[in-house]
Amino acid sequence: MALEQSALIPAHVGIIMDGNGRWATQRGLPRSEGHRQGLETAKKIVLAASRVGIRYLSLYAFSTENWKRTSDEVGFLMGLIKHHLRSELDFYKRNGIRIVHSGDPTGLPQDIVRDIRDVETATAHFDGLVLNMAINYGGRDEIVRAVRRIAQGPNPGALDAAAIAAALDRPDIPDPDLIIRTGGEYRLSNFLLWESAYSELFFSDALWPDFSSLDLEGAIADFSRRERRFGGHNE
Ligand code: IPE
Ligand code: IPE
Ligand code: MG
Repeated sequence: MALEQSALIPAHVGIIMDGNGRWATQRGLPRSEGHRQGLETAKKIVLAASRVGIRYLSLYAFSTENWKRTSDEVGFLMGLIKHHLRSELDFYKRNGIRIVHSGDPTGLPQDIVRDIRDVETATAHFDGLVLNMAINYGGRDEIVRAVRRIAQGPNPGALDAAAIAAALDRPDIPDPDLIIRTGGEYRLSNFLLWESAYSELFFSDALWPDFSSLDLEGAIADFSRRERRFGGHNE
């Protein structure tokens, strides 16, 4: 089913890309193979998002809790992220995609932080899709860091919602209109906690490596039929 012309396209979509490990295990493959396939899916979905006119796409790639995994898996994921940042710069340039990062850089290996800054700089002037990569990201951690920034800034007493929002990692990006989680779990797992206050949620049973551009269009079509009230009413 193609997306109808009249469909309302969310400006900002967040995706919790879950199910890589199960996808691999079901095939008798190591979990790392699921992550490799998951990255291919991410590239496909980035292009599809750009094609349908989404302005901002936030992809949850590694959470502040994912350090609990085996050192093998964490090492593989860090290697995959690093290799991707270095080898796919051309992919992002070709498609006019601007990369930004959310998450705590201080907890990440220095070489990855450098690579993130390099792609941010190299793509900063693009005006196509903004791809927000959430790496070593946790919603609670982001709020704690925001409050700390305010406490250490010139106006520590000005603690209201607007001040906190402005001190988050990506104050330039509007709150997500739609958050998609694949992999059949119904939770946010610490993704964009502050920003998701009024996001529409869409859960897909597809394991992330199987998620297709058609699935993305299905989620947008569903979003398009929702009535958002933000605590008010539409009469
Ligand atoms: C999501 O897939 C990728 C990351 C969290 C990095 P998982 O690795 O969580 O896959 P499942 O949930 O175990 O299937
Ligand atoms: C959420 O998936 C994190 C990412 C997709 C990066 P998890 O697999 O870590 O979430 P839980 O543990 O099932 O809540
Ligand atoms: Mg998971």
